Amino acid sequence: MKVTIQKLQQWKKEKRPIVSLTAWDYAIAKLLDIAGIDLILVGDSLGMVALGYENTLPVTLDEMIHHTKAVCRGVNNAFVVCDLPFLTYQTNITQAIESAGKVMKETKAGAVKLEGGYPSMIETVSRLTEIGIPVMAHVGLTPQSVKILGYKQQGKTPDKAEKIFNQAMALEKAGAFAIVLEHITEDLAIRITENLSIPTIGIGAGNRCDGQVLVTADLLGLSEKLPPFAISYANLRTVILDSVTHFSEDVKSGDFPHEKV
Ligand code: KIV
Repeated sequence: MKVTIQKLQQWKKEKRPIVSLTAWDYAIAKLLDIAGIDLILVGDSLGMVALGYENTLPVTLDEMIHHTKAVCRGVNNAFVVCDLPFLTYQTNITQAIESAGKVMKETKAGAVKLEGGYPSMIETVSRLTEIGIPVMAHVGLTPQSVKILGYKQQGKTPDKAEKIFNQAMALEKAGAFAIVLEHITEDLAIRITENLSIPTIGIGAGNRCDGQVLVTADLLGLSEKLPPFAISYANLRTVILDSVTHFSEDVKSGDFPHEKV
């Protein structure tokens, strides 16, 4: 059954946890969809995971669209969200409408995600939703601001926590249909989750959010370095390294192809 924004919001009311993972290509997306993942995020973390960039800043809108199209080809049921990358929406509202509009016109994603909750971003969310583009918000640790925030936990002082709380409230009011809470204290995540009617999707924000998201490369053990809050459920680096080394040895020794192959 297709996942919709209405279902995601209904699940918050029913306290049915929302399961979300990132995807960057057809093969991964297809497996996540078969596994029944509710929300597939084509996160700009694909810049590091799939494109080898140092952080998310170099990712372009065309790269996001290219990967989102591939992900959507693998998905039947999950709700797909495409990240707007750095400097494709912050300049002004026209730029945000053009970028988000291009995603909606050229891919089958159901929504875009953007980072930040400062006043101009609230206006952007309001304008995008007003013209019919669903927006998922993202506050706390926003990786597009890595040069200012680093990758540190956010909202640790009462002032900073209050600021993030107010941003979350304003983003819901502006029309965001859900919000990612990244690497904030559990107390703050609980307060936001209890005070919003839209679902909160946590990553490094404790286990009391309405849903959880992880970068799939971290979950599968493909990443060279994990953030402190991520857990690997598999070690695909080892599986892949062992397999290709085995193949290489077989080719060199003449064991591949076998007679049957
Ligand atoms: O880009 C991404 O993968 C994300 C998640 C960390 C939420 O934004």
